[in-house]
Amino acid sequence: MTDFTRQTALITGAGIGIGFAIAKALVRQGANVLLNDYDETVAQKAVDTIRAESTSGSGQCEAYPGDASDVTFIQKMVETAVNRFGSVDIAIANAGITIFGDIFTTTPEAFQKIVDLNLRGSFFLAQTAARQMREQGRGGSVLFMSSVVGHQAHPGLPVYSMTKAGLEMLAKQLVIDFSPLGITVNAIAPGATLTERTLDDPAYIPIWSRITPMGRPATVDDITNAALFLLAPASRHITGQSLVVDGGWTSVSPPPVE
Ligand SMILES: NC(=O)c1ccc[n+]([C@@H]2O[C@H](COP(=O)([O-])OP(=O)(O)OC[C@H]3O[C@@H](n4cnc5c(N)ncnc54)[C@H](O)[C@@H]3O)[C@@H](O)[C@H]2O)c1
Repeated sequence: MTDFTRQTALITGAGIGIGFAIAKALVRQGANVLLNDYDETVAQKAVDTIRAESTSGSGQCEAYPGDASDVTFIQKMVETAVNRFGSVDIAIANAGITIFGDIFTTTPEAFQKIVDLNLRGSFFLAQTAARQMREQGRGGSVLFMSSVVGHQAHPGLPVYSMTKAGLEMLAKQLVIDFSPLGITVNAIAPGATLTERTLDDPAYIPIWSRITPMGRPATVDDITNAALFLLAPASRHITGQSLVVDGGWTSVSPPPVE
């Protein structure tokens, strides 16, 4: 079901967190992975960790540090994957940032930074990877990392939520161009997820355990399992979809205040 042997995957922002967990799982399942992170040291450490856990069935993993919002860099990343591993079969636009602030405090610079990575970087990774997949002629998969706030509003996230909703619409839109090429394009919308970043906040687990119907925030493995499902060859008829992985949070109204 989730054998990715002889497939090449690119993943952005994967030095830690959700992206790292997906990269590790893909390598374990046989894929060759080009692992991107803005931070060179973080990217190399991630690759070293993945290599240290490799077994005989694992794929290879290499670091490709740099800015996933830079279109020229993205094009070089796709070229590097082809030169190094021979193809690009899976492209995961995982890198995403937010800068908290409401509509009245958001600066044009903050707006630009969020849009550049979350939307522009994801759009041009999809474009560049799909051009390569078209040349290879055997389909492929593109995956966007959205968020539940692409579905429902959350205080302080007007730009971030807009970009995540935009990614989910982009997944539908690209069905038109990608389906004739056998390329699937989907999004995952995680709810509150335990990562190195979110664990910095000691209140994160108690708060999200209380308000998540399943009684806990997501783990990176919860999100990874959804990613492997959508990327698996057995899911080739699933495209244009957004899969919410939030322990039920967005399905119910907020609990009454006690
Ligand atoms: N963690 C959550 O609770 C959560 C919830 C919903 C959605 N998401 C989304 O999931 C994705 C991953 O989130 P996370 O919390 O695991 O990641 P994170 O915020 O911890 O960052 C992961 C890595 O991305 C790198 N990065 C930042 N800017 C970059 C850039 N311009 N180019 C390349 N790399 C860059 C960072 O150096 C970092 O190592 C994001 O798109 C995020 O919006 C996360």
